[in-house]
Amino acid sequence: MFCSTRKAGTALLAAASCLLGAASAFTNPVRRPGGSDPFIAYSGDGYYYMMSTSWTNLQLARSKTIEGLKTASKKVVYSTTEPSRCCNVWAPEIHYLDGNWYIYYTAGNAGNLDGQNMHVLKGGPNAWDDYTYAGQLTNSWSIDGSVIRFNGWGNYMAYSCFHGVQYQSTCLQKLGDDNVSLTGSISVISQPSESWERSGTPVQEGPVALYYGGKTYIVYSANYCWTPDYCLATLEWDGRTDPMRPGAWKKSNGCVFSKANGHYGTGHNSFFQSPDGSQTWNVYHATSNANGACDDSRYAMVQVLGTNSDGSPNFGTPLPFSANIAEPSQ
Ligand SMILES: *[C@@H]1O[C@H](CO)[C@@H](O)[C@H](O)[C@H]1NC(C)=O
Repeated sequence: MFCSTRKAGTALLAAASCLLGAASAFTNPVRRPGGSDPFIAYSGDGYYYMMSTSWTNLQLARSKTIEGLKTASKKVVYSTTEPSRCCNVWAPEIHYLDGNWYIYYTAGNAGNLDGQNMHVLKGGPNAWDDYTYAGQLTNSWSIDGSVIRFNGWGNYMAYSCFHGVQYQSTCLQKLGDDNVSLTGSISVISQPSESWERSGTPVQEGPVALYYGGKTYIVYSANYCWTPDYCLATLEWDGRTDPMRPGAWKKSNGCVFSKANGHYGTGHNSFFQSPDGSQTWNVYHATSNANGACDDSRYAMVQVLGTNSDGSPNFGTPLPFSANIAEPSQ
């Protein structure tokens, strides 16, 4: 695929790319350290855009290959000294919503984590354009916001919250028509009620949409992030009824992706489509510390999703660093 469809300037260049087989494959990790809460989007301009938690500001990197993300320079697209949102900058995500790019992220104050809330930057039609601060999305502790589209219902934001419940749960709220506000009521659609999502302390966080096999899922991270048990689990929408209704969601029967091959705490993921749209790729972080880690030592990993016989996504297991992985399908 790489050799036949790559648009090189000359035949000679194309031939050279094919001979250099390494150019069409990559190895993990793609960012280490600094790979926490990784998010990658593929843009029609031929670049993969990557963000991860840096704690102090928002940084964007881009490359035409996954391998190239390892060495791509990071551009600071936003920072501020405003005390209420200067610090503890977490989980940035870059989303394209029919015409413009947006960066949704979490930030709070310097002193503690009690003021964590979600914020948004608005960009332009190209992901590499400048971004401007567009506002705070929430007014009570909320983290890890991600845009999710529901056929027939519109756009929502899924995030992690305590909204009248004891433990960090999964919330859903309508995205405003301006794409830089949330509107209407907040619904707690799922809580960490099962034994397999209560390691360390009960937690659901890092929700992200997955559209797969004609179904809409929220994939979230379960368990406390300092434990090696931090893992991915899914909520499957019934595809028909109001997504704000907890009963519209079916939780997976345990983690769908968890520690293996020397990788622990495999979670807080995102997804992107291959350039040709045929593959869905999972981007997640992990730690090599068998006791778990929730700091900047976490690294970012990329691998493709498989499909179960019933059409549902098969996350597989975290691949060893030695795996030579073909670049996403062009
Ligand atoms: C917000 O996003 C939707 C698509 O998700 C788009 O149709 C709409 O134009 C966007 N709104 C603005 C103000 O750009």
